[in-house]
Formats: sequence, structure tokens, C-alpha cells
Amino acid sequence: MERQLGGGLLVLVEGDITLIAADAIGNAANAALAGGGGVDGAIHRVGGPAIMAELRARHPYGTPAGTAVATGAGQLPARWVIHAVGPVWQGGDHGESVQLAGAYLSVMSLAAELGARTLTLPAISAGAYGYPLEDAARIAVGTVAESLRAGAPLERVTFVLYSPRTLAVFERALVAFR
Ligand code: APR
Repeated sequence: MERQLGGGLLVLVEGDITLIAADAIGNAANAALAGGGGVDGAIHRVGGPAIMAELRARHPYGTPAGTAVATGAGQLPARWVIHAVGPVWQGGDHGESVQLAGAYLSVMSLAAELGARTLTLPAISAGAYGYPLEDAARIAVGTVAESLRAGAPLERVTFVLYSPRTLAVFERALVAFR
């Protein structure tokens, strides 16, 4: 599914984010930037050790939830990886929705700063961090769609969803976006 918003196209696909070429690939990292499983594990596995080496060198103290940092992309089909840190779900009254929106906004502004024209994104916090999928999708789609409509200088932003169920929930969120 896709939708034109401002000068950018918002696209939803099912797949493995490490296999899709883009100027910048979004990662769902942790605040320590220590690597892990899920999409973080896949990005470091496919991208190779140069990515972690750059994180250690440039961001030895990590980055807080709701923010993001950029590195090179190693062996991935991209120029940059933008490591975003989403919130751990704690029931919904610990500012999780603001932090999740902040993570996506940080990725969008870093991508713009870098001059990226195309960007892929995972469903941040919707895996190990336990964010309820419907809410995670609504915040993800709404934040990126509003940013594109407000003039973010990206031609295409693609959410790469890892299961048919996640894709379906994101599609419902995009259809509902006004
Ligand atoms: N491509 C696209 N999406 C993927 C991939 C992949 N290769 N692998 C997993 N996903 C999906 C998951 O199915 C989920 O929908 O990414 C979404 C985010 O899940 P996680 O990767 O678990 O990320 P998150 O919930 O933000 O938790 C982050 O997990 O891997 C650790 O180091 C990471 O501590 C951090 C935490």
C-alpha cells in the first residue's frame, strides 16, 4: 500500500529491512546502542562490524529513548543506518507515546540532515519492547505522514514490516490517517 503525502510517498511493504536498498535504513536499537536481537541483530549481522565500531567510537554512552544517531551502513544496501531508540512499553502512562513519536521524528530529521531521499523504517518498539501493535502503528504512520505532509525533504519512506499481521495493522493505520 502507498500514499502520497506532500512531496513524499509513504509505502508499506512486508519483508526483511536488510534486503531493501535505500539511502538510509532505520534501526530499532536500545539506549546503550549495544546491539541485540530483532531488527538490531539483523542490521549488525548483515551490515558487519564496522557499524558497531562506529557506534562505540562516536556514541560510547548511547542515546536516550526518543532519539536517534546515524552511522555508515557497512555491507547493507544503504549509505547510512539511523539507529533509533524506542520506548519500552510500561503500560502507557510513562510517556511512551511521546517517546515513540520522538524516535520517528529524530529519524526523519537526521535523514533530512544527511540528504537522504529514500528511507526504510521498522516498526520501532513493536517487538521485544512490547508496544501494543495497533498503537505503535498509529503513532508510526501518523508521525511520518505528518512529517512528510509538512514538507520533510524525502521522496519515499517505506515501512518494512516483518509479518503479514504487522503489515495489515499498519495498512489499517494508513487508511485511517487523515
Ligand atoms: N526487518 C524488518 N523488521 C524486523 C526484522 C527485519 N529483519 N526483524 C525484526 N523485525 C520487526 C519485529 O518483528 C518488530 O515488528 O521489527 C519490529 C521491532 O522489533 P524489535 O527488533 O524487537 O525492536 P524493539 O521492539 O524496538 O526492541 C528493541 O530489541 O533487538 C533488541 O537491541 C534491540 O534492545 C533493543 C530491543
